[in-house]
Amino acid sequence: MSRKPIIAGNWKMHNNNAQSVELTEGLKAELKEIDKNLLPEVVIAPVFTSLYVVNEELNKCGCGKIKMASQNCYYEPKGAFTGEVSIDMLKDFSNLEYVIIGHSERRQYFNETDEMINKKAIAILANGLIPIVCCGETLEQREEGITDKHISTQITKAFENISAEDTAKSVIAYEPIWAIGTGKTCDSVEANRVIKMIRETIKSLKGENAANSIRILYGGSVKPETIEEQMAQSDIDGALVGGASLKADSFAKIVKGAMAKASV
Ligand code: 13P
Repeated sequence: MSRKPIIAGNWKMHNNNAQSVELTEGLKAELKEIDKNLLPEVVIAPVFTSLYVVNEELNKCGCGKIKMASQNCYYEPKGAFTGEVSIDMLKDFSNLEYVIIGHSERRQYFNETDEMINKKAIAILANGLIPIVCCGETLEQREEGITDKHISTQITKAFENISAEDTAKSVIAYEPIWAIGTGKTCDSVEANRVIKMIRETIKSLKGENAANSIRILYGGSVKPETIEEQMAQSDIDGALVGGASLKADSFAKIVKGAMAKASV
């Protein structure tokens, strides 16, 4: 079963409109000479306020090599929810196919719960977009030996009341919290082990087809120097990249590091 790899750049709270356009232009230039069919899916996730200009910039090349994700959404379609953005509003952007949900920073700083993440995943799929559901353990949980239990609980709750078919289309990002923004990448073999465990969890919940189809990414200090080894693992289907996605050349190197698996 071949799964198309994804390299996604989570820009987090960086870049105003001018900087977002500049980074997008830079990335387009880096990927210009490469045949689209040889690339993994390339996804960038700007801040909400830059989605419009980045979408316009992507339309200019018309090559469809780069897609967009938003970093969050709200699950209600509209109404008195000051400061929130609905999925219907995200559908304004023709290049936006993915929505990141449940990032550890949102869980930690904005009290996002498993229940909210589940509601978001259901609403995203009902609107024809694809959730990138993040999960991961803290250093304390790892040291306590409860990594697998914690992650399988996060995944079980995130996919409650979601069909096998919708699960198959979805994306999961395993991001150990201790590896995010620390420069300490999780050992590739260990990341692959956890990702296999996530796939087994999906298999027991939704069946073999969903487990074989769902793409599971690794995130946490991914760098140009680490990507090839990560992609060489059996179950790692790509990367969710933070810091190294903020420079066109380093992100492009990561994209290129995933090409071997993309053309299999
Ligand atoms: P870093 O690549 O900066 O560690 O961030 C990872 C991440 O949180 C992506 O969502």
